[in-house]
Amino acid sequence: MEAEQTYKDRIDKERMPRHVAIIMDGNGRWAKKHGLARMFGHRQGVETVHRITEAAAEAGIRYLTLYAFSTENWNRPQQEVDALMELLVDTIAKETPTLMKNNVQLLTIGDLERLPKNAQDKFRHCMEQTSQNTGLRLVIALSYSSRWEIIRAVQQMAKEVQSGTLRVEDIDETTVSQHLTTCNIPDPDLLIRTSGELRISNFLLWQVAYSELYFTPCLWPDFTVEEFYKALIDYQGRERRFGKTSEQLNTENKG
Ligand code: FPP
Repeated sequence: MEAEQTYKDRIDKERMPRHVAIIMDGNGRWAKKHGLARMFGHRQGVETVHRITEAAAEAGIRYLTLYAFSTENWNRPQQEVDALMELLVDTIAKETPTLMKNNVQLLTIGDLERLPKNAQDKFRHCMEQTSQNTGLRLVIALSYSSRWEIIRAVQQMAKEVQSGTLRVEDIDETTVSQHLTTCNIPDPDLLIRTSGELRISNFLLWQVAYSELYFTPCLWPDFTVEEFYKALIDYQGRERRFGKTSEQLNTENKG
């Protein structure tokens, strides 16, 4: 607790990332390490979701995006897919009052239509219920992958060109961004991946163009609030240049 306070005190409230995205990885390995079935790891992972969401809301972060289920995750054994869907549905139903209490608005990105009907209904219901909340935006990526999203955006733009509502020469970065499922969400400032894997795994490929990346060996169920604060402190120690030189940035900051 004392260590947590120390890390917390080192965070600069004025330089908080607006959007933190997380690849929550390592649930299966955590379960194996403890001699348990994989689902215990996912259940323990939900506890981490709970505490990190509360910590992010309290820290004043505006957007927290969590990679909960990727397009590729549909290829896992059917039993695990079913159990994960059930866990997502149960969690969202159970957590809605906490989201309301903490003024958190729930959003989703991804191919929601591909989820079982009861899961779609639960998520839609929670999004509706929390739609007036003005605090943290909790964005859950469900049946999401960047390549799926980019293909969908290209198809939509092609249709608009065909129907004459979009001119090819008008397609720019803004147009593409607006056709992604993240269209109303700013790009992540910080992307965290747990479990020691050094990959992006088809997550927000377009959106992380200038994000700071933070990798930790910590498995997701072991990812404490203290670990989260460490990532924020690490982020705050970096210089974000967006392709410019340090000298240019210094001049701009003085001006
Ligand atoms: C990756 O660990 C984790 C997942 C594929 C699922 C994560 C989902 C949750 C924690 C539930 C979240 C719930 C809500 C409502 C957001 P892995 O299984 O790939 O672990 P491994 O790489 O060690 O096998």
